[in-house]
Amino acid sequence: MSPLVAHLAQRIVEEGAISLSDFMVDALSHPQWGYYTTRDPLGRAGDFVTAPEISQVFGELIGAWCAGVWTAMGRPDPVDLIELGPGRGTLLADALRAIKQFAPDFDAALQVHLVETSRALRRKQADALENLRLARAPSWHDELAGVPPRPAIILANEFFDALPMKQYVKIGAGWQERRIGLGDDKATLQFTLKPAFPLRLPLSLADVVEGDVVEVSPAGEALAADIARRVAGQGGAALIVDYGHSASTAGDTLQAVRRHEFHGILDHPGETDLSHHVDFGALTTAVASAGARALGPIPQGLFLGRLGIDRRAEALFLGAPPDQFQAILGAVRRLVHPAGMGLLFKAFVIANAELPALPGFVATDGPI
Ligand SMILES: C[S@@+](CC[C@H](N)C(=O)[O-])C[C@H]1O[C@@H](n2cnc3c(N)ncnc32)[C@H](O)[C@@H]1O
Repeated sequence: MSPLVAHLAQRIVEEGAISLSDFMVDALSHPQWGYYTTRDPLGRAGDFVTAPEISQVFGELIGAWCAGVWTAMGRPDPVDLIELGPGRGTLLADALRAIKQFAPDFDAALQVHLVETSRALRRKQADALENLRLARAPSWHDELAGVPPRPAIILANEFFDALPMKQYVKIGAGWQERRIGLGDDKATLQFTLKPAFPLRLPLSLADVVEGDVVEVSPAGEALAADIARRVAGQGGAALIVDYGHSASTAGDTLQAVRRHEFHGILDHPGETDLSHHVDFGALTTAVASAGARALGPIPQGLFLGRLGIDRRAEALFLGAPPDQFQAILGAVRRLVHPAGMGLLFKAFVIANAELPALPGFVATDGPI
């Protein structure tokens, strides 16, 4: 039995069956044995690949998006650029390189903050930013609340999908929460159900039927509300890019991935990545009640198209040796094509309500 499974089993003996969200917190972020605590999981040799790791174009376009938002904010100096869960720091490094080249005034005004719990990934991020000659040294935080309140541009790519969530199953007239308990051997983790208080269901979920699974991420909704309060009070906007659905919908989307393959959720805690679809409908509700404006979500392909991914890819083709042409084309297609990341992944903005329409979005963009 791994130390993490022993720890979880002990918790269950002491507390009874634990919620999926408690399981996710330990499996992903336990200070000693958590998945992100102990490794760099990204890249082809790792467990999964994210958009910034597919092509530099992704981070460069997001750098251009940030520069456009800064202009829309009235060019505050200083201004915070905050990334939540920056992984290897690739998105930030590509964005900052583009900003330095095309928006030097913005570059000079920037203070970079990285919100990251994993010490292993913090080291990677420091390496990625090392040669960028930033005007001010970047700083690291365990949570967004640690970043002093100021006008800010906030980025989160594939971050909300890793935040803890709970699952409820419709059974008979009521609901049961899916929890994690122990088998008869007192050592094997297994799913169990426990009657739960009725959920506050969005209207779009009113027609669930027997056996349907509904997911809620109180942590994701609370973070969206925190971001909304920050940009509403201090000025600024946040860009959240993630995979998920525009409106709340029933379905079990939790997945465990290791070496680019799916595994059982309870098979190797601490050794597999856990993630789930982001419910952008629930985030939209959280943002509205915290006094900011939500834009989108719109499909990633549409968002990157509006930011000019074709022109940026063309510029890369012109500067690249012929043998790299196919690689650049393949990477860009994967980011925007509906069969790749273009449709399932979405861009969602939380903005101060007084900002004009922001790059990549038009004033009428609701959920698509
Ligand atoms: C799926 S990775 C995404 C990495 C990066 N954004 C990218 O697109 O390549 C999730 C990132 O969030 C970090 N993370 C996960 N849970 C966190 C939490 N509760 N607080 C801060 N960082 C967290 C992980 O360590 C990792 O850097």
